[in-house]
Amino acid sequence: MKNIAIITGASSGIGKIFAETLHTHGAYDEVWVIARNADRLAALADTVRFPVRPISLDLSANDSHKTLAALLEEGKPRVGLLINCSGYGKFDAFEKLTLEENIGMIDLNCRALTALTYVTLPYMDRGCEILNVASVAAFQPIPYIGVYGASKAYVLSFSRALAREVGKRGIRVFALCPFWTKTAFFDRAVDETKDAVIKKYVAMYTPEYIVSYAWRKMKKKGDHCIPGFKAKLQVLAVKLLPHRLVMSVWQKQQKL
Ligand SMILES: NC(=O)c1ccc[n+]([C@@H]2O[C@H](COP(=O)([O-])OP(=O)(O)OC[C@H]3O[C@@H](n4cnc5c(N)ncnc54)[C@H](OP(=O)(O)O)[C@@H]3O)[C@@H](O)[C@H]2O)c1
Repeated sequence: MKNIAIITGASSGIGKIFAETLHTHGAYDEVWVIARNADRLAALADTVRFPVRPISLDLSANDSHKTLAALLEEGKPRVGLLINCSGYGKFDAFEKLTLEENIGMIDLNCRALTALTYVTLPYMDRGCEILNVASVAAFQPIPYIGVYGASKAYVLSFSRALAREVGKRGIRVFALCPFWTKTAFFDRAVDETKDAVIKKYVAMYTPEYIVSYAWRKMKKKGDHCIPGFKAKLQVLAVKLLPHRLVMSVWQKQQKL
């Protein structure tokens, strides 16, 4: 039986670095990489140390998980690792975004992540791992990034709860909560034709740092991690202070 890893969002940013450094975490017979951009997925064959199976899929489509379910049913592999990294955010007032943009974030960040986890779990046993990419946005309500933040709060909450359930049969579930990270994420999040919603980024990490931190933390106990000192400090403050104050500070900082 093949032992495979599945990585969504592998065509860019954090997911791409996960794919390219996978060999530092474990050994796999194949890596199934999922995203929409088929060319970028195919190019991973040159930089990933394991055989790559590109699966071009728009995960925001309602029944996209059925494609993965069918491939799993056909190949019957053991899924040693699932990384749910596909995701996007849009920075603007809720009412200024289209309904499709608002719902699209929920479809990709929450629905697809949940569905992929569900169809993959039957192919996991003791020692298998799920890594869900949440965000420090998961810890607080964020005006003008409201739907994105709420979607990541879902990812963190769901992951931690599931960790307890499937942990009983030796399956690890882990949520990664990055702070701002320099990737193509901002190309989609920010509309260059409008006034910037976010004027100040208090930190900007590299995807390489985020991924190497996650690999290190996955070797230890715990169900989530927050890479970086400034990120940890921010989460600590957000946990200690009333959220109405946290939101006011954010709005003042960003002149919103
Ligand atoms: N960058 C940050 O500041 C930051 C901070 C905290 C958390 N995160 C989270 O980190 C994860 C990775 O983001 P990133 O920063 O690496 O951004 P990125 O470079 O834009 O990568 C996003 C990935 O998601 C894939 N994707 C987007 N829409 C998709 C769809 N409909 N179906 C399938 N795949 C789709 C993209 O591939 P295609 O375009 O080829 O489909 C790409 O591979 C996301 O979940 C994001 O929310 C990012």
